[in-house]
Amino acid sequence: MSEGYSLTRLNKPKDWNNLAGMDKKHVPIIEAPTKAKSGEPFEVKLKVGGIDGVEHPNMLSHYITWVELYAGERHTARIEFAPAISDGYKIKLAITLEKSAKLCARAFCNLHGLWEGQAKQITIE
Ligand SMILES: [Fe+2]
Repeated sequence: MSEGYSLTRLNKPKDWNNLAGMDKKHVPIIEAPTKAKSGEPFEVKLKVGGIDGVEHPNMLSHYITWVELYAGERHTARIEFAPAISDGYKIKLAITLEKSAKLCARAFCNLHGLWEGQAKQITIE
């Protein structure tokens, strides 16, 4: 862990007010409304890294291979990126929930392993 990440464990920032550079470029960020209507689709945006402008590299030898979205324990989406050709790591999708849930995203870097971002509570009305 001396370099601030682990290849065998889930990497998750401990203090969101004091992020290391490795956190800033690897954690997935969820953008979604805090409230939605039951059974009606709403938009979720995912972006990997880029906090404070610290973008993750996107080259053949070092890139984000995929990002996954969960609603509670339910797997919701998985997006695979091709190195060097995707325009950053930005995804837009629509999902539908029946009950309130916490959205959570995980991203995998081919060199630095698995990263989890801040969960986002969605209240279904
Ligand atoms: Fe990386």
